[in-house]
Amino acid sequence: MADQKLVVSWLNDAYALENGIAEALEKQVAVAADHPAVQSGIQRHLEATKRHAETVKTCLEQLGESPSGVKTTMATLGAKVHGLTMGAAKDDLVKFALNDYATEHMEIASYKAMIVAAQEIGQAEIAAACQGILSDEVAMAAWLDEQMPALVREAVQQGET
Ligand SMILES: [Fe+2]
Repeated sequence: MADQKLVVSWLNDAYALENGIAEALEKQVAVAADHPAVQSGIQRHLEATKRHAETVKTCLEQLGESPSGVKTTMATLGAKVHGLTMGAAKDDLVKFALNDYATEHMEIASYKAMIVAAQEIGQAEIAAACQGILSDEVAMAAWLDEQMPALVREAVQQGET
């Protein structure tokens, strides 16, 4: 019998990570006020992240579980990588982009793993839900990749704070 507990544990990690990211993105939206295009991208990311948390919660419920609420390593990661001093330095947006890009790839790896795991325990619906989230994460990583050169150039041109 395949082990459903592992999938539950990973879904809980993903839930905590999405919530940690949502918290950090709320702050980034405010800091990006001078860059409307970037700000609306971050806003979209925030909305998607909230949807992901809800989707993951539904997946847990399908397995007869609910989010554990335990602060896992993943949640700490989500919060830490974004927990930078904000609004003070010219390179804030570059640092956000670097951290968000890294976090997106952590999410991509996690959802890829969960797709396989869900298939292994015969939960096709959960695998499909994770696949949907994965597509969003891949798109967000690509968007961040596109934004970075301009943000880096701007920060360098502005010089030291
Ligand atoms: Fe996400």
